[in-house]
Amino acid sequence: MTEKVEVLKNQIQGFIVKTNSELEEFRLKFISKKGELSQLFEELKAVPADQKRTMGQMLNDLKKLAEAKFEELQSGLGNDGSSSAFDGDLTLPPIPNKTGSQHPLNLTRYRIIEIFERLGFNVEDGPEIEDDWHNFTALNFPENHPAREMQDTFFIEKNPDVLLRTHTSNVQIRLMKSRKPPFRAIMPGRVYRNEAISARAHCFFHQVEGLYVDNNVGFSDLKQTLYHFAKEMFGRDTKIRLRPSFFPFTEPSSEIDISCLICHGKGCNVCKYSGWVEIAGSGMVHPNVLRNCEIDPEAYTGFAFGMGIERITMLRYGINDLRLFSENDLRFLKQFKPVM
Ligand code: PHE
Repeated sequence: MTEKVEVLKNQIQGFIVKTNSELEEFRLKFISKKGELSQLFEELKAVPADQKRTMGQMLNDLKKLAEAKFEELQSGLGNDGSSSAFDGDLTLPPIPNKTGSQHPLNLTRYRIIEIFERLGFNVEDGPEIEDDWHNFTALNFPENHPAREMQDTFFIEKNPDVLLRTHTSNVQIRLMKSRKPPFRAIMPGRVYRNEAISARAHCFFHQVEGLYVDNNVGFSDLKQTLYHFAKEMFGRDTKIRLRPSFFPFTEPSSEIDISCLICHGKGCNVCKYSGWVEIAGSGMVHPNVLRNCEIDPEAYTGFAFGMGIERITMLRYGINDLRLFSENDLRFLKQFKPVM
């Protein structure tokens, strides 16, 4: 019997488990009522009375050893019962990799930058908290002129006015003030307007401003540049339409529409049955704006445009509610290209 105890002791101490079923094997062999250890306790009954005490002590020690080892092996397998070695069903689908995805507005912004960079445009940046001069005055908005009310402004301070920029056109001014022409730049960024939130409007949204100032820049350059952009962005068959408009900082001014991608001109609720969707405001830089930035309008001319990133993203992906962009709903966000 002493010999058997010694053998079992060695087996228990040297036992290794990699899986739950091996752990169960250990339990059956050493711990369960039908196991080998219980067998020895049975045999103890037949042991002569004078040896019973020492043998009983040995068996009890062995039992304790087996129980301690069982716990040790169990915790080694981890809480969920899985072992470090693979113990699962190889036919199950893999656990998905939980990387984030890129925001659709960023995907559109990157694409816009890519298109204009190939035409030689730099990317410039400016502040979202702006003074009155850069957001309005330098852009030829006359003092107390109703044009200032075209864009419902969030003011941070009054007299002198500090505000959340209502458009990215402030960056045109900052760029022209800080450097010498020629300029060929695009300026993406967030803008703010005090508007009621709906499927089509929000109190903040994103624009990309464009500015090209050089000798002999004409309206045909504006037209061709935006036509090229529309085809690159939305496909070769896309058409553009220029509609006369008004901005204090451009003259002449025009809205840029593209042919509706949803109905291809037949009329649908995205294009409000007109066959056209507005994507940008544009025009030739007003001579007063150039003068305000100490640029001679006799020597230099230029065009500018400002387009809405939300609108372009909605057309690109067929999104019908602008609020989706800022609600952080993962069911929406994870449908877009993963972060690499
Ligand atoms: N800043 C104008 C807007 O937000 C857009 C625009 C930019 C128009 C540049 C003409 C030139 O509506």
